[in-house]
Amino acid sequence: MTGRFDGRVAFVTGGSRGIGKSIVQGFAEEGAKVAIIDVNEEALSETTNEFKEKGFEVYQKVADVVDAQQVKMAMKEVVDTFGSIDILVNNAGVIRDNMLFKMTDSDWDTVMGVHLKGSFNAAREAQKYMVENKYGRIINISSTSALGNRGQANYATAKAGLQGFTKTLAIELGRYGITVNAVAPGFIETEMTKQTAARIGISFEDLIKASVSNIPVGRSGKPEDIANAVAFYADEKSSFVNGQIIYVAGGPKD
Ligand SMILES: NC(=O)c1ccc[n+]([C@@H]2O[C@H](COP(=O)([O-])OP(=O)(O)OC[C@H]3O[C@@H](n4cnc5c(N)ncnc54)[C@H](O)[C@@H]3O)[C@@H](O)[C@H]2O)c1
Repeated sequence: MTGRFDGRVAFVTGGSRGIGKSIVQGFAEEGAKVAIIDVNEEALSETTNEFKEKGFEVYQKVADVVDAQQVKMAMKEVVDTFGSIDILVNNAGVIRDNMLFKMTDSDWDTVMGVHLKGSFNAAREAQKYMVENKYGRIINISSTSALGNRGQANYATAKAGLQGFTKTLAIELGRYGITVNAVAPGFIETEMTKQTAARIGISFEDLIKASVSNIPVGRSGKPEDIANAVAFYADEKSSFVNGQIIYVAGGPKD
C-alpha cells in the first residue's frame, strides 16, 4: 500500500498528546517516519510505545523547544537516523491565562518562549536541512485566540505573532521548495482545554456545551480535525499553498 507521506520524515514538537499526537499519528498512518520532541517524559514514552506497537517508525526525545541546543541536537539525530526532515510542525504549546492586571512576568515570558522562541528555534534549525534538499513543509499551530480572547493577552499575542512568522517564512523560503503555513484551531477537546475548564471553575462537559453553542457546525473540535488540515498543507501536492492561515473552528473566524 502506498501512502501520501511515504519516504517523508515529519518532526512534530509537543507531539506526545492532544493535537500533536493526532498529527503524528496521521502522518505515520500515511507512511511517514515520525519524530516527536516533548517536555512531558511520561506522555512521550507512552505515546512512543503505543506507536511502535502499531509498527510506526518513531524517533523520540525529551527536549524543550525553548532551548535551541536541545532542538538542534534532536534534529541532527533525526537526520542521522531517518535521513532528512521534510515536514516540521510547530505544535508545542502552553497556556498561562490571566486577566492583564493579574498576569505575571512569568506568565508572559513562558507563553512567548514556548510558542514564539520555540517555533523560531525549530524552524531555523529545520530550514537548514530543507534548503539543502530543496523541499520542505513547515506548519505552525496558531489559534482563533490570535483574534483576541479574554484572559489570554499573552497567548493571543503569541498566536498572532506566529501568523506574522508564518507569512514571513513563506516569503523567505518559498524559492527553496519550502512552504510555510498555519492552522488556527478553535475549541478542541484536549488536556489544554480541560485546564481552561479547571481554571474558570466549571466542568469540562459544561465548557464543551458552552463552546458548542457558538460553533456553527454544532460540535466541538477533535484533535483529528486539526491533523487533517495539517496533512493538507504537508502534502507534496500543496506546493502552491504558501503563507496561509486556515481557521479550523467549525465556522468562519477573522
Ligand atoms: N486545544 C485547543 O482548543 C487549541 C486551540 C487552538 C490552538 N491550540 C494549540 O494547539 C497546540 C497543541 O495543544 P493541545 O491542545 O494539544 O495541548 P496539550 O497541552 O494537550 O499538548 C501540548 C503538548 O506540548 C508539549 N509542550 C509544552 N511545552 C513544551 C516545550 N517547551 N517543549 C516541548 N514540548 C512542549 C506538552 O508537553 C504537550 O505534550 C498548542 O500550540 C496549542 O496552543 C489548541
